[in-house]
Amino acid sequence: MKNILFSLAFWALMVLSQFTTPVWAAPTNTSDLAFQMNAQMGRGLNILSADPVWRDPAKARMTEKHFAQIKAAGYGNVRIAIHPFGHVIDQKTFALDPQLFTTLDWAVKEALKNHLIPIVDFHEHHAMGNDPLGKKAMFLAMWKQIAEHGKDYPPEMLFEICNEPNMKPEIWNELQEAARQVIRESNPHRTLIIGTINGNGITFLKDLKLPADDQNIIVAIHYYSPIQFTHQGAPWSKNNKDLKDIHWTGTEAQQRAVMADFDVAQKWSQENHRPLTLGEFGAYETGAMKDRQLWTDFIARQAEQRGWSWSYWQFDSDFIAYDIDHDHWVKPIQDALIPPAKTH
Ligand code: GLC
Repeated sequence: MKNILFSLAFWALMVLSQFTTPVWAAPTNTSDLAFQMNAQMGRGLNILSADPVWRDPAKARMTEKHFAQIKAAGYGNVRIAIHPFGHVIDQKTFALDPQLFTTLDWAVKEALKNHLIPIVDFHEHHAMGNDPLGKKAMFLAMWKQIAEHGKDYPPEMLFEICNEPNMKPEIWNELQEAARQVIRESNPHRTLIIGTINGNGITFLKDLKLPADDQNIIVAIHYYSPIQFTHQGAPWSKNNKDLKDIHWTGTEAQQRAVMADFDVAQKWSQENHRPLTLGEFGAYETGAMKDRQLWTDFIARQAEQRGWSWSYWQFDSDFIAYDIDHDHWVKPIQDALIPPAKTH
């Protein structure tokens, strides 16, 4: 009897699925959902981190056509950086300016329209890192608003709780769990992204505590090693701003260093049965383009070989993959991210 019921249910589902066109197949459990979502995310770009669109839509650098271009170039996700702390209209309730949501809705809808998975990334790592517990009430009040606002978006829209939480592990575990609970009240089935402390460091995966009963989570790491190469001459990088002529030519030792780091992450992922996304990686413009291309290609392929999704830092502003001012892809970087198909 059980078998008959099961097979009836199975065929009913099969028939139903002919009439709906889900972007992803209905998963059997939430852990599968996070893994499937991660596979669907594939390759992506960080977008809108410094775009004037957030202050004045008339001044937008990124426009509708860029979303279509990103899709056409072969990407599957866009990680949208939002800076909610700069959009508070009431210091008592931490109410967010409706304009923030108008712009966020625009970006999310453009992404979805182009079949790109939008990741809403709470990009307030400096302020959060300076005083994480002092910011807790504001952080949670904002997540409540963002989550409630986004609750009716399709499952392909993801929330990332906090970019690069730079704080003690026990404090981050307290904050991310509190935020997760707030989000789950209005978004019980949405896939969430939760990263590790200290620049989303791989070595801190071991400190991340996630609830066993919530498997609908993708874990985020970032990679900028060797930092002396990727951040040489970067004015905001205290230890590296005066460096120049630091090369990455893909020597065996250089490649091994990356692979050793990635293997640590992969081991953690397998042991903990959590999918990984490489949410940021990139080498700043002051490095030699040839080296940057080699490094970017190597990092992306290594991530892919391990089944991780990734989002390159970033589309516009700095580390650019696309030159908005001249309206073209930065070819060496774009070719490194999405290798052109070989012609014979
Ligand atoms: C960081 C941040 C981003 C910054 C980039 C390059 O880790 O997430 O805001 O611009 O990486 O340093």
